[in-house]
Amino acid sequence: MKVQQAKTLLDRGELIGIPTETVYGLAGNAFNPKAVRMIFELKNRPTNNPLIAHVACFQGVLELVKSFPRELKALAENFWPGPLTMILPKKDSVPDELTGGQNTIAVRIPDHPITLELLKSLKYPLAAPSANTYEGISPTKKAHVQKYFGKNFPVLDGGPSKKGIESTIVGFENGQIVILRHGSIPIESLRKVSAVPIIDYKGKTLRAPGQAKKHYAPVTPLIYTSSPEKIVSKNRGKKIAFLSLTDNTWGFDSRVKTISLYEDPYKHSIAENLFDTLHQLDNGHFDLIVAEKVSDSWLGKAVDEKLSRASINN
Ligand code: TXA
Ligand code: MG
Repeated sequence: MKVQQAKTLLDRGELIGIPTETVYGLAGNAFNPKAVRMIFELKNRPTNNPLIAHVACFQGVLELVKSFPRELKALAENFWPGPLTMILPKKDSVPDELTGGQNTIAVRIPDHPITLELLKSLKYPLAAPSANTYEGISPTKKAHVQKYFGKNFPVLDGGPSKKGIESTIVGFENGQIVILRHGSIPIESLRKVSAVPIIDYKGKTLRAPGQAKKHYAPVTPLIYTSSPEKIVSKNRGKKIAFLSLTDNTWGFDSRVKTISLYEDPYKHSIAENLFDTLHQLDNGHFDLIVAEKVSDSWLGKAVDEKLSRASINN
């Protein structure tokens, strides 16, 4: 499918898959309540869990929000286009369907040449959650999207998503920037450019609304653990896949299929390949996937959050 065809379908109120640098999105006209409702239905997602509006440029952001706090300017300048989503007070003209009745809106400028070209050609922003069914593993390739929505579902093919995990979501409250979801931009990188404090709400009560505790989960049971040898020996009769995420050498025997995603202390490769590897393992007819606890810094934080929620023991 070409950008022009994608535009034609979207202008008609239909949905398509779009590539972004983080994960593929299930996109529709954000100002068309019918299209937005279709997104929730197709994903089987509760309608109180709001969607992100994707725009081509900063002017597009300003058209959706009541005001843009000057404290967030540095983040916008450094990270847009890119994997950063901001939650800001919405203009009244933004439909409630999109924001799940909230008076705030989630916005981002994605960093993918094809999707930027598409957005520039449109007269409206694109609502786009990750293009997986509710609680499933996020898609980082066209084939993943079509696994969920059928092989004839229209998807703009932009190749594998470079970042491989979702955008980092920030809010702004009482003069502080608050991380609502860890993602492709580590908190350490945000802090480098921000003059305002950045607070990490991980594990505390404040979170993006409607976020289910379980998410990003393969159909195959997955256990996320810091003692993989215990879990493996307890499940000896089963066909096990082991996802190694640190530089520990566990030395399981050949009956345990081992895949290592560990490469460097900044863990780019872990994030990049995480969802694709989970999709592959989920198709591999294993009885159990054991994933090793990752260290909780830089991109490890986002990976840790995803795997914790994918785990059956969460
Ligand atoms: O990387 C990404 O962000 C991808 C790509 C496609 O852009 N999109 C994505 O969307 O991850 P989704 O729908 O899977 O996750 C969006 C999250 C949800 O947890 C939702 O609750 C939160 O953003 N969210 C959206 N609007 C919000 C709002 N007004 N207030 C608080 N949280 C909000
Ligand atoms: Mg999602």
